[in-house]
Parts: sequence; C-alpha cells; structure tokens
Amino acid sequence: LGYFTYDPGFTATAACTSEITFIDGGQGILRYRGYPIEQLAEKSSFLEVAYLLLQGELPSAEEYSDFERDITYHTMVNEQLNTFISGFHYDAHPMAMMAGVVGSLAAFYHDRLDMEDSAHRMLAAKRMIAKMPTIAAACYRHHMGWPTAYPQNNLSYCERFLHMMFSVPAEEYKVSPSAVRALDLLFILHADHEQNASTSTVRLVGSTGANPYACVAAGISALWGPAHGGANEAVLNMLHEIGDVKNVPQFIERAKDRNDPFRLMGFGHRVYKNYDPRASIIRKACHEVLQELGVDDPLMDLAMELERIALEDDYFVEKKLYPNVDFYSGIIYKALGFPVSMFTVMFAIARTVGWVAQWLEQSETPTKIGRPRQVYNGPVARDYVALDKR
Ligand code: CMC
Repeated sequence: LGYFTYDPGFTATAACTSEITFIDGGQGILRYRGYPIEQLAEKSSFLEVAYLLLQGELPSAEEYSDFERDITYHTMVNEQLNTFISGFHYDAHPMAMMAGVVGSLAAFYHDRLDMEDSAHRMLAAKRMIAKMPTIAAACYRHHMGWPTAYPQNNLSYCERFLHMMFSVPAEEYKVSPSAVRALDLLFILHADHEQNASTSTVRLVGSTGANPYACVAAGISALWGPAHGGANEAVLNMLHEIGDVKNVPQFIERAKDRNDPFRLMGFGHRVYKNYDPRASIIRKACHEVLQELGVDDPLMDLAMELERIALEDDYFVEKKLYPNVDFYSGIIYKALGFPVSMFTVMFAIARTVGWVAQWLEQSETPTKIGRPRQVYNGPVARDYVALDKR
C-alpha cells in the first residue's frame, strides 16, 4: 500500500482534530464542549446549545439574548427563494428540496472575500441556523398547497417553526408548550455528533474552500441516506410494514438472515457499542410526550416489543446492536404532527448547528484539502486497440 493505509468506511482514521464534541462509544458517553448530553437535554435549550457549539462556552444572559436576537433577525428568506420552491413538483421529497434550496443560498450570499473574515463566517453560520426552519416549513407548505407562512419573530425558535409548519389560514394555531419542549429536546440531541458521514462531508467540501451554503447542502444530501439521518423515516416505514406485535419475531429473523438485505432500522451504530445515550433520553421522552399530548400510538408498543426481543437475542447482543437516536425520534415527530417524509428534515435543521460549528472550526484551523487515496485494483498497463481491431 506504500505510505498510506487502506481503511474503507474510515473505521480507524481521524481526519481532523476538534474541540467540539466528544464521544466514548464503548461507554455510551456524548458531550458537547465537555458538557454531558444528559445535562444539556434536561437543563438547556436548543439555541443555548447552538451558542455553546459555535462559541465553545455557555452564554451569559446578555450573550444569549444577543444571539437570540441575531438568529431571529435572519429568519426571513429572500422572496425569490419562495419562487424557487414553488417550481418543485408537489410530491418532491422535502430532503431533495432542502438540498437544492439550501444550496441555492450560495447564489444569494456569494462574496468569496466575506469568508476570509471570521465575523462574516459567523454571520453565515447564524444565517443558516436561522433560515433552515423557514425553508423546511416552506417546503412542507408547498407540498400541502398552503400559502407561505412568514416567520413570526415574536415567537421562540421552536415555536416559530411549529407555527410556520402548521398554521393554516382561517384557523388560529396555538403552539402547545409540550410540543415545543419535545422539539427543543430532539433538536438538542441531534445538534452535533462529531465526524459522522454528513459532517465529514461538510468538512471535505469545506476543505476545498467552497461556499459554506454549498457545504451544508452537501451535508444535507449525505444525511438523507437511510444508513444515516434517513433512518428515522425508515424506522416509521419499517414499523408500518411490521404492522402488528405478533409479526415482530419474523422481522427479527429477517434482520439476522445474511441473505436478506433487511436490517432493523434505528438499530446499530458505528461508534456506540454499548448504548446510544441519545436513545435512552429519547425513549423516556417518547413516553412522556405521548402522555402529555394524549396520543395513544400502537407503533410505540410495536417499537418497545421490537427493542425487547432484539436486546435479548444473541445476534444483536454479540454484534453490540442497540437502538440508536433514530429508533424513537420518529414516534415523537409523528405525535407532534410531522409527516414521515419530514423526519429527516427535522434532523437536518438540528444538525445544521453541528455542520456550521465544524465548518467554523475548520475555517479557523490551517487545513489541507481532503484528498483520500485508493487501492487501485483495475487492469495493469495495456495498449490501445483501434476500433476495427476489437
Ligand atoms: N440490523 C441487523 N444487522 C445489523 C444492523 C441492523 N440494524 N446493523 C448492523 N448489523 C450487522 C451487519 O449485518 C454486520 O453483520 P456481519 O458482521 O455479520 O457482516 C454487523 O452488524 C456490523 O454492521 P456494519 O454495517 O458493518 O456496521 P457499520 O458500523 O458499518 O454500520 C450502521 C453502522 C448504523 C450503518 C448500521 O448499524 C445500520 O445500517 N443500522 C441501520 C440504519 C440506522 O439505524 N442508521 C442510523 C444510525 S444513528 C443516526 C446517525 O447518526 O445517522
């Protein structure tokens, strides 16, 4: 192999140093800037976590209020963007729309020199955190055929998003505090996860000096895959397919069969080989949210039975496969009224904070262009043969 190692899937390769997020997969530990995820989930808010990930420290009251004001200031999108959104077919997948629309922000904010200045880079980061919910809701409303709902800047980040998503003309939409808290919690848990596939994508694109909105659009595309953020949508589809508790054992057998491509979605993780600490928090929250919202969802019983049987099964125990963050999140999103196709968009809104925090860190660190090598196993050297001789 010469001077480089062969590591498909990057199972043993660190491509950067970072001060943002710490994971100990063996012990099930996740910390943002040193703070345990359990404490942040219980005591913090998504915007405060966003500040922490971006700036490295928890904000003072004044710093928080300035940050919230800045984010609120940037929630609007250029009206031309709504024209762009209206060009999509009504049944376009919202993740496809998000990748295109967020990428198009690069056409609105394109001054390359801006990115050489840290204040402008921070402005780009705040713009993206502010505009993601506006764009996500606009994509959903386009699908529904509803008129645009402009951001209500007297509301908090999550309230505003719920309002833009679900307010229907001629009906007064009251945002439920339980729904706001649940959304805030899910956003905190999804905000960053060190060098996962989408964040590595953002960093790889960022290493070329590309426009930050283009970097995040690339991250959105990477997140969409069912092995990554698309798993939350896939879990709900799988639960629907299983249909009934009595069918669970049959699907467990399928997941274990090497000749069957079926996998238990929401199970397994590249890094966590003990348990995913986010899954433990979400599982508990799921029970609470369903109770608070008065939702009795049979999919919850199905999910719990699936988890129970899998955790007792030798295959899953030996391979250290546990429920991950996506196993229960979809049941909460469903209870909040989000359609299944929007689940990965929710993940993208939250992960935008991680993407831009990692992009900022990379931009402030001397970085080489990301350029993996390969192990060539194609034909050896041979001579060209003219067309009439083949
Ligand atoms: N169901 C059944 N078998 C599984 C599963 C599963 N969900 N996950 C892994 N395995 C088996 C796999 O077949 C392999 O078996 P063998 O050693 O016999 O070949 C072994 O476990 C190791 O799997 P792997 O695919 O080599 O492990 P990985 O680290 O490359 O993949 C993963 C991790 C998350 C992609 C994988 O576990 C998976 O596909 N899970 C389902 C999708 C999912 O829930 N993804 C969300 C991840 S968490 C959210 C995020 O951060 O994106």
